[in-house]
This record gives sequence, C-alpha cells and structure tokens, in this order.
Amino acid sequence: MAPNNGNPSVHYMYSLPQTASPDDVVSLYLEAFGQKVSHHEIISKDRKKIEEVLRRSFVDGYAIYAVENGKMLGYLGYSTDGVTDTFDIRFSIFFDVFGFLGGLWKWLLYLLFGLFYKTYPGYFFIDSLAVRAEARGKRVGSQLIAEAENEAKRRGFDRLILQVVDTNTGARRLYERLGFVQVKRRYFGALTRPAGYEAADIMEKPFRENPFD
Ligand SMILES: CC(C)(COP(=O)(O)OP(=O)(O)OC[C@H]1O[C@@H](n2cnc3c(N)ncnc32)[C@H](O)[C@@H]1OP(=O)(O)O)[C@@H](O)C(=O)NCCC(=O)NCCS
Repeated sequence: MAPNNGNPSVHYMYSLPQTASPDDVVSLYLEAFGQKVSHHEIISKDRKKIEEVLRRSFVDGYAIYAVENGKMLGYLGYSTDGVTDTFDIRFSIFFDVFGFLGGLWKWLLYLLFGLFYKTYPGYFFIDSLAVRAEARGKRVGSQLIAEAENEAKRRGFDRLILQVVDTNTGARRLYERLGFVQVKRRYFGALTRPAGYEAADIMEKPFRENPFD
C-alpha cells in the first residue's frame, strides 16, 4: 500500500481493500462507462443483469485502487496478457444470467465488438480508469497512472498503453499532461456512434531510458 504524496489520506492498493466489494468496482465502472457497456459489452437495458455479469466476472489483481478512509475513490484496471483484466467476461456467465438463447446472441455480439477492441498482449495496457464523480479534479487519476507506471517499470515493461475515445477530451488532456502521445487512431464511425464516439485513439507513454542506470 503506497501513500499519495500529494494527499496523504489517499492510499493506493494493488488488491481490493477489505472495506470495498466487487459491487463497488462494478458501480464505479458503470458510472464511468455505462453507455459503452450497454451498447458494446453487455447488450442489455437491464441494469441489474449487467451488474450481475460484471460482478461475476470481476477478477481481483488486475487493478490499482485509490482508497480514502476505507472508501474506494477510483481504480485503474489493466491487462498485461491482452486477455485478462478487471472483468473476465465468459460465455457461461452470459448463459447463466440471460439464458441460453439470450446469452448466445449477446455473447456473439460481445465477441464481434471485441474484434474492434484490439488488446495488446505483452504490453502494460490500461484498460479502464475511473474516479468517483465527487472525487475528480484532485489528482487521484494522475496518481493512479503514476502507480501504474511504477508497477509497469517494476515488472519490466517499457511503456504504458491506453485507449481514449475521440469525445473524451478531458481524459485526453490529462493523458497528454502526463506525457502520453497518440500513436494510432482507430475509426469505427456509425458502429460506435450510439455509444457516444466514432474513433478511439491509442496513446502510449514510453519510459525514458537512463543511460547511467
Ligand atoms: C478521467 C478521470 C479518471 C480523471 O480523474 P481525476 O482524478 O479527476 O484526474 P486528476 O485530478 O488527476 O486530473 C484532472 C484532469 O482530468 C481531466 N478531467 C476529465 N474529466 C474530468 C472531470 N469530470 N472532472 C475533473 N477533471 C476531469 C481534466 O483534464 C483534468 O485536467 P486539468 O487538471 O489539467 O484540467 C475522471 O475524470 C473520470 O473518472 N472520468 C470518467 C471516466 C473516464 O473518462 N475515464 C477515462 C477513460 S479513457
């Protein structure tokens, strides 16, 4: 557990704190990405069922949590193998929650959209970053990225990679301030318009090599 130098009451943890539950992560994820989730990941208007799929898919150990007085303020989810991240969604869970036929077609659409969301095996890929609305603007997000950078370096990765959608100008500004540069734009057009964006930009932050190390 590492204290935040900027705000000593916020701590950063590499597993879910005992004072929080997977439901807290699910609600934060939906607060931040609900529109994308119900259009692309779990095609459903039934919030309870979406929550159930996410709760059952939750895997601890692929996220860094910002915690203040036991309350989770935000988290950063990542993947290093291109497959597993905070939510490891599987067909069996779709099947249990939506039934065989309902689960099947939702699963096929989930796989279809997955084709457009390239993952990056072998890279430290920041899959999601979310801070509770009431805690934003206090550098929790910046510190979560600093923690991810430390963790990536510790594990021998040479850069951070993330994806930000074209309409999320606030997050993009934050990433640029923290040293990320755009390396690629992936254009989806009408396919993703209902979810509020048309393109996703891949940004990276390579770590400067110190020749004296
Ligand atoms: C993006 C996000 C994680 C930033 O967290 P944060 O703790 O507010 O970040 P910081 O305090 O370290 O930095 C604030 C910066 O975030 C950006 N930002 C984006 N949305 C913001 C919001 N609603 N409130 C405050 N800042 C926001 C601003 O550019 C700000 O930069 P500035 O201080 O130079 O103006 C947070 O706003 C959030 O959870 N947004 C919804 C989910 C999201 O868009 N995630 C990123 C997906 S790629």
